[in-house]
Amino acid sequence: MNIFQSIPLKKLNTFALDVKAKYYTEIVDEKEIPCLIENETFRENKRFILGAGSNVLFTQDFDGLVVLVSNRGIKILEQAEDYALIEAGAGEFWNEFVIAMLKSGFYGLENLAMIPGKVGAAAIQNIGAYGVEQKDFLHSVKGYRIEDNEFPELPAKECDFSYRSSIFKSALKDNFVISSVLYKLLKKPNVNSNYKDIKNEIEKDGIKNPDPHYIFNCVSKIRGRKLPDPSDFPNAGSYFKNPIIKKELLAELKASHPDIPYYEMADSVKIPAAWLIEKCNMKGTIKSGAGVWKNHSLVLVNYGTAKPVDIINLANEIKSKVFQKFSINLVEEVILI
Ligand code: EPU
Repeated sequence: MNIFQSIPLKKLNTFALDVKAKYYTEIVDEKEIPCLIENETFRENKRFILGAGSNVLFTQDFDGLVVLVSNRGIKILEQAEDYALIEAGAGEFWNEFVIAMLKSGFYGLENLAMIPGKVGAAAIQNIGAYGVEQKDFLHSVKGYRIEDNEFPELPAKECDFSYRSSIFKSALKDNFVISSVLYKLLKKPNVNSNYKDIKNEIEKDGIKNPDPHYIFNCVSKIRGRKLPDPSDFPNAGSYFKNPIIKKELLAELKASHPDIPYYEMADSVKIPAAWLIEKCNMKGTIKSGAGVWKNHSLVLVNYGTAKPVDIINLANEIKSKVFQKFSINLVEEVILI
């Protein structure tokens, strides 16, 4: 493991922001983690553990150590008639992992097709799409706890998973390096086609019994239509989380906006932030090289010349317009560094 100085991060963040890391290293094998933790540069600087850089916004040069997680490997640990227990290195690319599972006949992750990022970050962020969250199939997370030099395996129920969050973003923030994630996948498909967009597609295609391969292709198609490819239009997916509001506020908003979409939750509702942004006439706006994607208003795009401040200014303008119109505070889904 070598530590390098003053390394450009432009190719390591999907917003393609031209920032630098003061120190940089890469982990290609989980056996390197203890050595990393003991390293003086790691101990004495602030650090950021980076996956595919697809959910981060570097607000400026990083004045510390960036650790790129690249340890790969997929192992079948256990198989029974109806399930398989799989261990994937934190540095596996998520979509490649999903494809490999589908090819092996291990199902459940097909709704999470085409999500950029790596396996370790998928657990931290509890990625979700089209009616499935990765927590639905997660068995446990292995990694290194810095504080006590332990290498525990945390079962799913100890990971505090919730909408786009986990213990790795709260109690264990900056104190845990994930080495691998274990998933318990189905050998007999149990297709989840409840999401509106998937239902529409099934109807259009006239499919009677969609299988996991169909769902994977269907989700890939929907995403391809709505979301910009970061290699053409650098972006980090949804910029904001969908806000969760009280039912009382929804009732008030319904009076002035009867068409407001929402998803029922236990004692609250979730509103699509994309709709709020669109209603503020921000869809398609471009300012100083930063823009709101024309096909999906929750995605902010770097049109090539944006600096971190241009993305932040645009995001702040969106937040203030949405607050003025709906009294709702949007909160970033991307991690600001
Ligand atoms: N909508 C608009 N305008 C738009 C786009 C969407 O009004 O430009 C409204 C529509 O009412 C639509 C609703 O928003 O029905 C929901 O849109 P969509 O199905 O595209 O989902 P989303 O809520 O915007 C979330 C996730 C996505 C995930 C999709 C599909 C968050 C923050 N985002 O987006 O995840 O792919 O659902 O499940 O929860 C990501 O996290 O980076 C991400 C892309």
